[in-house]
Amino acid sequence: MIRFSENQTLKPYNTFGVEATSRYFFEFTEPEDLDTFVNANKSWKDLPLFVLGGGSNVLFLNQFNGLILHPNIPGIGKVKEDRQNVWLEVGAGESWDDFVKYCVGFQLGGVENLSLIPGLVGAAPVQNIGAYGQEVSEVIEMVKGYDLQQKVHVEFPAVACEFGYRDSLFKRELKNRVIITSVVFRLEKFPEFRLNYGQVEEMVKALGEVNLQNIRQAVIDIRTSKLPDVNELGNAGSFFKNPVVETALAEKIRKTYPDLPVYPLDMDKAKLAAGWLIEKTGLKAYRDGNVGVHAKQALVFVNYGGATGNEVLNFSEKVKQQVYEKFGVELEREVNCV
Ligand code: EPU
Repeated sequence: MIRFSENQTLKPYNTFGVEATSRYFFEFTEPEDLDTFVNANKSWKDLPLFVLGGGSNVLFLNQFNGLILHPNIPGIGKVKEDRQNVWLEVGAGESWDDFVKYCVGFQLGGVENLSLIPGLVGAAPVQNIGAYGQEVSEVIEMVKGYDLQQKVHVEFPAVACEFGYRDSLFKRELKNRVIITSVVFRLEKFPEFRLNYGQVEEMVKALGEVNLQNIRQAVIDIRTSKLPDVNELGNAGSFFKNPVVETALAEKIRKTYPDLPVYPLDMDKAKLAAGWLIEKTGLKAYRDGNVGVHAKQALVFVNYGGATGNEVLNFSEKVKQQVYEKFGVELEREVNCV
């Protein structure tokens, strides 16, 4: 199925809930629809492109004078199975959390800690989604897509995807060039449970047996207690990444603030918690007009209703500036601005 429209409103397509429109909008349900698309020689071919998944990690700043491609490819299929693993190929348009639920339902491990992350499967490899001690790159076998420049269907084994913290090749060199159509995951029949992040272990044990179902439930409980529901308060999850700084800077801050959360990466670098830095800057629950810092998780910014993309961006710049003035740490956006 192909659906092509002009001046498409984007409000229902972004969890921040900001008003914006796209000059052209192309939604499709089969990888082959992309062949049809590139072979139709239309004027919009020279316009800027943007690939939109579930719109849960994007901030539209104004009217987009280009073409939005929205892969809505469905399907979960078994590719193969052996004694340890099951390989599933999942369409880019499947809801991420429905896929997690499916895996947990079939006793397949590897994505349970990623429960309730909003968005679609096709977006998961782009920013290498991660939470509660799991990253999606650990279970990705292959990413399939379509290269708009070469006009061919392409396959990337995991090693070729250059996965990093909230990062991959699809976010950099291949941005708006390769459209992800499906992802092949390698799930575990006898998973090793990941309980060592924050309150996860404690919450799972309170639910009873340590199993996939209870891990999923614990993660859902933690997320719903901290993160705002997009149906009530527009947001795009973490607005900034957790910053990587020189160990010396982390140590310097820790002298004044012994409770600073530090995650050492190597001898010279450490990751800090951006939410903590924002909170200690005194900005938790801070509100300016229609935009605010969420009261339960300072790394999340919310739209109290009617905010424009530019208002959210200006708000975030102020937060970034104040954190820099207080700690000398430069925050980098996690959310994609369009
Ligand atoms: N913290 C505060 N105040 C806050 C928020 C956090 O002091 O307002 C402290 C916490 O107490 C904790 C540390 O900062 O010591 C980390 O907090 P948390 O576990 O809530 O996670 P996070 O680092 O803020 C990251 C991801 C989230 C993911 C959680 C759980 C990034 C940018 N964000 O947040 O992902 O759900 O870990 O694993 O890496 C997202 O990417 O959109 C997202 C929500």
